[in-house]
Amino acid sequence: MKPLHFAPLQGYTQHAYRSIHARHIGGVCSYYTPFIRYEKGGVRRKDMMDILPENNEGVPLVPQIIASGADEFNYLCDAIQEKGYKRIDLNMGCPAPMQTKLGRGSALLSAPQFVEELARQMTQRPDVRFSVKMRLGWKQPDEWRHVLPILHELPLAHITMHPRIGIQQYKGEVDMEMFRAFYEECRHPLVYNGDLQTLDDLARIESEFPQLSGLMMGRGLLGNPFISAEYASGTEWHWADRRDAVLRMHDDWLQFCRQKYVSDSQVLLQIKPFWEYQKTWIEKKIYKQLMKSGSFRNYMTAIQRFSNQ
Ligand SMILES: Cc1cc2nc3c(=O)[nH]c(=O)nc-3n(C[C@H](O)[C@H](O)[C@H](O)COP(=O)(O)O)c2cc1C
Repeated sequence: MKPLHFAPLQGYTQHAYRSIHARHIGGVCSYYTPFIRYEKGGVRRKDMMDILPENNEGVPLVPQIIASGADEFNYLCDAIQEKGYKRIDLNMGCPAPMQTKLGRGSALLSAPQFVEELARQMTQRPDVRFSVKMRLGWKQPDEWRHVLPILHELPLAHITMHPRIGIQQYKGEVDMEMFRAFYEECRHPLVYNGDLQTLDDLARIESEFPQLSGLMMGRGLLGNPFISAEYASGTEWHWADRRDAVLRMHDDWLQFCRQKYVSDSQVLLQIKPFWEYQKTWIEKKIYKQLMKSGSFRNYMTAIQRFSNQ
């Protein structure tokens, strides 16, 4: 079994979700924050709230930043270090045009000179252990060949590799042949990330790449929140145990949404993403009712049906 990391997912894995998952399920060695960015002269209040230690009690947290140059990078690191963190993950994989057009995320992979600039900044912060989350490239799957030698000069905690290229976004297949080439060249501890959905997927990657230092799951964990505990215990849970654990998470998530939003319709809007990726293990009819409920009352009827199954 390898350490399992919970991938950052903007819009899904905010502090309340992470805390609830850690409390009711666990089995995760690190939870990453969605990327924190420099915007309009600072960091959004919402992003700072997301990393406040009091909002992350009991959660092994790694704040993630996205930056294209030294100024942004240093601003973000200062803000995070001020909150007491000694671990920071640098996003070099985001494919969103809003970020790549600013030279951030996967765009860095086509511009090794900017990676060098960021690498220099990292060496000036010996108190922080950095890791990097990246793709094979932005436009070409061999761009990593120019970037990896720069990363080899740094004392990184690890590199997480999602073997797609930026312009693919999340479409198409992961490129396992190129991942193997990266795996063979990489001298840092390496974490695999991409399209892991089941315990079999985790076991397959583990056996094909025994030197990996860890595995990272994003959508697969949102879709099967219990899978990290199953992986840690080495056994698949009974369906009813999965349902009960997810309902316990849901109770806390509902409470959080109720504290944050006033009207039932707002709560309903906020609560639905909790189920969005959980299609594969919930009965189709109930899933549809959960996602399509037009009123909070109908939604709670669907929850009741689910808990009585
Ligand atoms: C909705 C969404 C939001 C994401 N937000 C981030 C992010 O903030 N930082 C990051 O490094 N990756 C982000 N990713 C990428 C995931 O962390 C992960 O690398 C990707 O989904 C592939 O892994 P998976 O197949 O296990 O989901 C996001 C992906 C999705 C689908």
